[in-house]
Amino acid sequence: MDAEIHELELTAKAALAAVTESDGLERWRTEYLGSNGRLKSIMGRLKEVPKDRKPEVGKTLNALKAALEGEFEAAQVRLRARSSGPLVDVTEPGIELSTGTRHILTRTIDEITDVFGRMGFASVDGPEVEDEWHNFTALNIPEGHPARDASDNFYMGEHTGIKRLLRTQTSTMQIRAMEAQRPPLKVVAVGRVYRPDTHDATHFSMFHQIEGLCIDRGLSMVDLKTALIQFAHAYFGADAEVRMRPSFFPFTEPSAEVDMKMHVKEQLQWVELGGCGMVDPAVLAAVNIDPEEWSGYAFGLGIERIAMRRYGITDIRLLFENDARFLRQF
Ligand code: DAH
Repeated sequence: MDAEIHELELTAKAALAAVTESDGLERWRTEYLGSNGRLKSIMGRLKEVPKDRKPEVGKTLNALKAALEGEFEAAQVRLRARSSGPLVDVTEPGIELSTGTRHILTRTIDEITDVFGRMGFASVDGPEVEDEWHNFTALNIPEGHPARDASDNFYMGEHTGIKRLLRTQTSTMQIRAMEAQRPPLKVVAVGRVYRPDTHDATHFSMFHQIEGLCIDRGLSMVDLKTALIQFAHAYFGADAEVRMRPSFFPFTEPSAEVDMKMHVKEQLQWVELGGCGMVDPAVLAAVNIDPEEWSGYAFGLGIERIAMRRYGITDIRLLFENDARFLRQF
């Protein structure tokens, strides 16, 4: 019996060493450790052993059982480690990494401010919730002016005697810039503006403008037009053109509408972009800048108009629905 136990140990270990895959390992387990296996059968014969040797042989059998179980577990680990290697099918197409992109308006804003930055215009900022002083009064829009009508503004109620509203134009930031810095100054400010318009393909109650302001000694309309032409060439290309049409704004005198000729679907076309003019002396006086010494020009352009014409977007609402299928195109 001792010899048989020894024999079983040797054959079991040799057979296990020859196992190379998990099916073989399972067959080995059934043959040696299974409930009808060879270890069980030899253990069943313990009753044939003379009484005085039973404890000793029983001990040997238990030790063999523990040894074979230990070797089985080690073999499992060994096979698993080997099979985790080449499971990757290198001929399969890779998983596409989807990276985010900037919103087309954000990109347009960044590009435009970058161009003006290179032209010497520093970027400034201002709040979207404004008071009447910055949105109207300082911009030479007196009380009772139709631009202040409740139906054309998002008023937000009064707080400590000051009426607040969502700004309707980025021109508010002209006033803030002049309050914060003494001339000469040359700034641009981009931001959201709000108007109670009914939404359709060309109207939205929120949109973006870029405002430009330059205050210096002896500025004229020539400086204004030069700046706009420089911008148009840098942003839209060498064949872009700038046209001004006489107009009226309370905060500029003289005032003009600005059109730029740009590529719209491969064709050069005039596109209305906003307003401009020479800063009205009353505006300079409102922020304690002497209009006898200083002069200025200003302009305000619609960002959505630029982006929509440039990229052939025909409905402004698409810009704010955030449908990834639309946004991914740009
Ligand atoms: N704030 C005007 C608007 O929203 C646009 C504008 C016109 C801005 C003339 C200017 C300007 O700076 O000089 O309609």
